[in-house]
Amino acid sequence: MNARTDPIGIFDSGLGGISTLREMRKLLPGEHFIYYGDTGNAPYGTKTREEVLQCVSRVVDRLLKEQIKALVIACNTATSVAAAQLRKDLQIPVIGMEPALKPAHEIRKSGKILVLATPLTLREEKFSRLMSRFGEGAEKVPCEGLVELVEAEDRDGAKRYLETLLAGFRLDEVDAVVLGCTHYVFLRDMIKNMIPDHVAITDGNAGTARQLRRVLAERELLNDAGEGSVRILTSGTDTDLQKMNRLLQNADT
Ligand code: DGL
Repeated sequence: MNARTDPIGIFDSGLGGISTLREMRKLLPGEHFIYYGDTGNAPYGTKTREEVLQCVSRVVDRLLKEQIKALVIACNTATSVAAAQLRKDLQIPVIGMEPALKPAHEIRKSGKILVLATPLTLREEKFSRLMSRFGEGAEKVPCEGLVELVEAEDRDGAKRYLETLLAGFRLDEVDAVVLGCTHYVFLRDMIKNMIPDHVAITDGNAGTARQLRRVLAERELLNDAGEGSVRILTSGTDTDLQKMNRLLQNADT
């Protein structure tokens, strides 16, 4: 049996899920989080589904040693390949993510929706199901290589990448851009400056934080007494660890 004071496990292939964790800290300041950045194995999005399943299984085994009361997959790619199986295998609630196509669909007038995500997310069955429900006017935009630029905090490189990418679209015909990878959320302001004012940008972070709160409340596992905490673990280097800690503190980045 888990207690309210037990920690929540949360992971991503690297630093992307820190953008999700920041939303969760705002909404659930009393919770204790253990974040695992699998930076030693990033990126996930250009691997095969079998390779990602192996990475996820190692990360989840490590987090389960911490007596976690819930698991958050702060990664669209890992969710697409592993969430269904993890929900079957684990006793604790599993909260996953998907590209925020539904909110984009609700905003859409008659223009296009560009869904930026990793090649693996866009290839998976889970995304095809989402497209069949909310995909009118939506176009898949796989962004191979962009996660690496975010991991390296290469903002000039990311800017060049995005300029080239977006040059391929008539942006006046676009209604919304979906940030379908938690790493891309760190590029939100940069993207905002590259697109016309009328184009909305959606991501799944706030919705996932609300979903976590709902699930914890349902199971009477919400911890809203006292001050929460975050501990970060990584398969990467000390530098990766410092980077993730810095991004967690710096809400403006
Ligand atoms: N941050 C991830 C996502 O939301 C995974 C990126 C990757 O490692 O390719 O999809």
